[in-house]
Amino acid sequence: MHGSYGDIESLLPDTATWEADGCLSLAGRSVAGLAEAFGTPLYVYDVATIRGCCAAYRAGCAGYPGEAQLVYAAKAFAAVGLLRLLAAEGLGVDCVSGGELFLAWCAGVPPECLVFHGNNKSEEELALALRLGVGRIVVDSLDELELLARLVTDPSEPVRVLLRLNPGVEPHDTHAYRRTGQLDSKFGLPIATGDAARAVARCLELWPAIALLGYHIHIGSQIFDLAPYRSAIERAYDFAAEMARIHGAIPQEFSPGGGFGVAYTVEDRPVEVAAAAATVAGWVADAARARGLPLPRLVLEPGRSLVARAGVAVYRVGTVKRIPGVRTYVAVDGGMADNIRPALYGARYQVVPACWSDRPPERVRLVGKYCESGDVLIDEAELPSPQRGDLLVIPVAGAYCLAMASNYNAALRPTVVAVEDGDVMVWQRRERLDDLLAREVSGCFSGRDVEFRRFS
Ligand code: LLP
Repeated sequence: MHGSYGDIESLLPDTATWEADGCLSLAGRSVAGLAEAFGTPLYVYDVATIRGCCAAYRAGCAGYPGEAQLVYAAKAFAAVGLLRLLAAEGLGVDCVSGGELFLAWCAGVPPECLVFHGNNKSEEELALALRLGVGRIVVDSLDELELLARLVTDPSEPVRVLLRLNPGVEPHDTHAYRRTGQLDSKFGLPIATGDAARAVARCLELWPAIALLGYHIHIGSQIFDLAPYRSAIERAYDFAAEMARIHGAIPQEFSPGGGFGVAYTVEDRPVEVAAAAATVAGWVADAARARGLPLPRLVLEPGRSLVARAGVAVYRVGTVKRIPGVRTYVAVDGGMADNIRPALYGARYQVVPACWSDRPPERVRLVGKYCESGDVLIDEAELPSPQRGDLLVIPVAGAYCLAMASNYNAALRPTVVAVEDGDVMVWQRRERLDDLLAREVSGCFSGRDVEFRRFS
């Protein structure tokens, strides 16, 4: 009965089921029921899918002959409930700001499991990382190394660092905004310019305040073709071997970063997570062996591939504008404020109705409610002739949607719930009108205050 949705099931969370009433359920909870209870836009995370992705990563690393650690890149989505869940699954957390460190700390992630990244960490952020006692600081520049050294007050407790190398490798199959491994990048210490070598020498001088444990690379994100990982790992290990020869600096730890791509549409064909992790882990082991270096502790740092498919966005259709001979615009109650990815990267998504309908199919453009013509979620989608009130589900909305959400047009950021075995947990409540005033220091006139309260 739902055959016309094609392969879209493969994009939905693992527990997605079409119930006898023709409506989609996740972990035994009807999406329409959740939308009724929590309103729309609504983001729903399926916990089983997240646990399944963690298990796939563990399986992928199982063949690695040394120690392997998974670290979740919190920038993909940093809800405290999610961080807590991933920490319980044994993952560490990669943070790129004082804000993310704070959220991970609030989630109870053990500080030694935190990895602190960033191309321009402020003095305050570094000081916070030291105060929390984060497990690793990934140093991105020579300048940061000096700043960090100045902040270390207790040299009996060396700060454990990795150097983020810029290997000069560019993954071509992802959007230019998501490439980080090429020389012309704000990220990392270029091997090619000698900065990386200078950083190693400087770390050794700074011992015992700074303990250099090894190296980190991250070439980009939403990558399907794994070959550039191999080139980048090889270049990093050529460099490691040279540093071992010159300085006796032996890397005990190595991170090839994150970046494995996921399918957003049924045409996308990423490498499956366990296979991707196993392949890259194998390349790291080979690179170390080939140069007579010890097998490093391997740190994989996925964001998107752990959480993207677990999350769906649920919207309600409002205005449907049919322009005969031109096109039909179907506007939903969210858009670029909760998902900027189509506007920013030309990211493609698919959509499916939350409940089956036998209305005739119609080609439509799915747009948001914000005041930009670029507020398009899906350029061309096929839906059963849409009407006001229909509920729509966009799969693969779990990564970098809410993480990049804004209050554009004073939009209220949506409720986020997680479902597992029929239970519903609210991870984040919907923003309220008074949240819009939280940072206003001029306050409300008392008369207005009363007026606003009536709406909140
Ligand atoms: N490690 C580092 C150092 C990173 O910079 C990133 C992502 C990751 C790990 C995780 O990469 P993932 O496994 O999630 O691909 N906003 C863009 C993605 C930006 C990714 C930034 N760095 C998007 O929506 O596509």
